[in-house]
Amino acid sequence: MAFVYVADLKKHAGQTVAVRGWLFHRRSAGKLHFLQVRDGSGVVQCVMGRKDVDEKTFELAGRATQESSVIVEGEVRLDERAPGGAELGVKKFEIHAMAEQPYPIAIQQHEHGVDFLMEQRHLWLRGPKSAATLRVRARVAQSIRDFFNNRGFFLVDPPILTPAACEGTTTLFNVEYFEDKAYLTQSGQLYMEAAAMALGKVYSFGPTFRAEKSKTRRHLTEFWMVEPEVAWATLDDIMNLAEEFVSFVVQRALETCREEFKVLERDPKPLEKIVPPFHRISYDDACAKVKAAGVEMKDEDDFGTPQEMAIVGDSEKPVMVHRYPTAVKAFYMKRDPQNEKRVLCVDVLAPGIGEIIGGGQRADDLRYLEDQIALHKLPRSAFEWYLDLRKYGSVPHSGFGLGLERTVAWICGNEHVRECIPFPRTIYRIYP
Ligand code: 4AD
Ligand code: MG
Repeated sequence: MAFVYVADLKKHAGQTVAVRGWLFHRRSAGKLHFLQVRDGSGVVQCVMGRKDVDEKTFELAGRATQESSVIVEGEVRLDERAPGGAELGVKKFEIHAMAEQPYPIAIQQHEHGVDFLMEQRHLWLRGPKSAATLRVRARVAQSIRDFFNNRGFFLVDPPILTPAACEGTTTLFNVEYFEDKAYLTQSGQLYMEAAAMALGKVYSFGPTFRAEKSKTRRHLTEFWMVEPEVAWATLDDIMNLAEEFVSFVVQRALETCREEFKVLERDPKPLEKIVPPFHRISYDDACAKVKAAGVEMKDEDDFGTPQEMAIVGDSEKPVMVHRYPTAVKAFYMKRDPQNEKRVLCVDVLAPGIGEIIGGGQRADDLRYLEDQIALHKLPRSAFEWYLDLRKYGSVPHSGFGLGLERTVAWICGNEHVRECIPFPRTIYRIYP
């Protein structure tokens, strides 16, 4: 008997097929067992009548425990009311491995607190919402790769062990590196700048690390970032790219994740509006908006979540904020020629989640960069190679980083980024 995935059942209407999976839920009513079997691609209801199987099998199904692995053979019956559009009329039923009892996670998951569920993350992944979020994440990752691959970008993989800080020294993870000290990468950007000088248009996509001590709903200590970098590109060029990129990813999610949005109770309507252009606003105008909304902030300071929420307001599209104060941004940012207190950078703020992208134009002047490295008290010796990029054919160039988990949280309508990565790492959690 050929095995079929639940997602493909509709193609086999009227045929007898076999499904392999796990028993998600069982309901028994006299002469009938209703067995919900999930296999990763979907959930199918398998209906077993007392007369359809021998007595032993019917009795076995009646005591099958939640999350037992099972093999079910039956006839595919189309049924519009069934979740995937089909159900199985059971002919054969086999338990591959009976699950111990009780299963730690109740069907009604909201009965558990998030801390408990996170402690059981290895099992919680099987829950409908967790699995739906992971499927969305996988498809978003695919669309990210498609977007850049189809536009002539080369995938370049920057190192994870690095000798220096990219995004400030306060969030570095130290690693013993033989007799030396190294850090887990905070961003591949500096290496991507070198790669852009070699290959023109490049992107990286992988894990990055920040020793974030803040316990917020949008900070992880290990998260995935996609980082395009483009030689000759200006701030305007990279803002255009960011806007097209975010729109592409959201539209692709709408095409490929409709079923998942139903499971997640995510209304897809607002996402349909995510197309260029996005509203663009300068840092200074954004500050005025924050103050007008009655949200407190210090002059010339960076934005936190409350300020970002005030800037996005009730906009359904992301908002692009450009030209932040030089003092709050990283050492490598290019200064705005119109105003030396501002840098040519952009943050993209998404409704409900805030910053999903940070980026901008890079300083391409050797002397300026040297001064910035000194000003930020960074060890110059670790940056000599980076300064070389300004010595040998320096050109304007720009790029950005998009956080995958924040983007998935926004698309799924999930409250917290920790649900958007299989095994989240935060200040309080490194298990499982
Ligand atoms: O704004 P950030 O710090 O920018 C950079 O690292 C640049 N070097 C990127 C570049 O220009 N190539 O981080 C970029 C994005 C943020 O907008 C956010 O989406 C995500 O990375 N991010 C985090 N996501 C989850 N947890 C954290 N602790 C994050 N820190 C940043
Ligand atoms: Mg940022």
